[in-house]
Amino acid sequence: MISERPEFFTGTEMPTAGWWEALWPDPASVLSTVGLKPGLEVVDLCCGDGWFTLPIAKIASHVVAVDLDPALLEVAKNKLAAEGLTNCKFVIGDAYEIAKLVPEPMNFIYMANAFHGVPDQPRLARAVYETLAPGGLFAIVNWHQYPREETTVTGEPRGPSTELRLSPEETVDAVTSCGMMLVDIVEIQPYHYGAVFKRP
Ligand SMILES: C[S@@+](CC[C@H](N)C(=O)[O-])C[C@H]1O[C@@H](n2cnc3c(N)ncnc32)[C@H](O)[C@@H]1O
Repeated sequence: MISERPEFFTGTEMPTAGWWEALWPDPASVLSTVGLKPGLEVVDLCCGDGWFTLPIAKIASHVVAVDLDPALLEVAKNKLAAEGLTNCKFVIGDAYEIAKLVPEPMNFIYMANAFHGVPDQPRLARAVYETLAPGGLFAIVNWHQYPREETTVTGEPRGPSTELRLSPEETVDAVTSCGMMLVDIVEIQPYHYGAVFKRP
């Protein structure tokens, strides 16, 4: 099983069917809230089954979707193909290796629902920094540090365990340690926040 591999980030399994759609009914508005604009070269890091990759591909110039799990990438690939989108590349690999997996400079790196499980967050931030063009943005979407029993969706507690959740301040400390600048912290209702950073 993919989640048993040592590279797999803790508590980042793709959710069981049904509630992701209820939690994220409008993924395009989340992307706009964290600053995605048309015309950019984008990476969807830890893209899963492509819930956000699809709207990214509709907005951006190109998107590279990266995930450790080939089966999820296949689902994402089919989703985009079904809508006739051809501006996406799918790359199997470990997010720490992003600078090698995506050697061309990118304008926007999006990482949703995965940063909490990265064991060495400053290491990942450094790799993202290397992949960004100067002035490029890194947008992280994280679960708030609310107790898990309070973050219910379709009647049940959802998301990573309470202990894994990061405050905005912890996220900012981890990412700015490599020289990235904080641009904004935004609220994403009901249970998430976005932290947006820029490579100077
Ligand atoms: C909770 S899912 C979120 C997927 C997507 N970002 C979303 O919000 O819909 C986290 C994803 O991270 C992937 N993942 C876990 N460890 C990884 C690693 N070391 N490198 C790349 N992807 C990884 C998992 O396979 C899973 O698809």
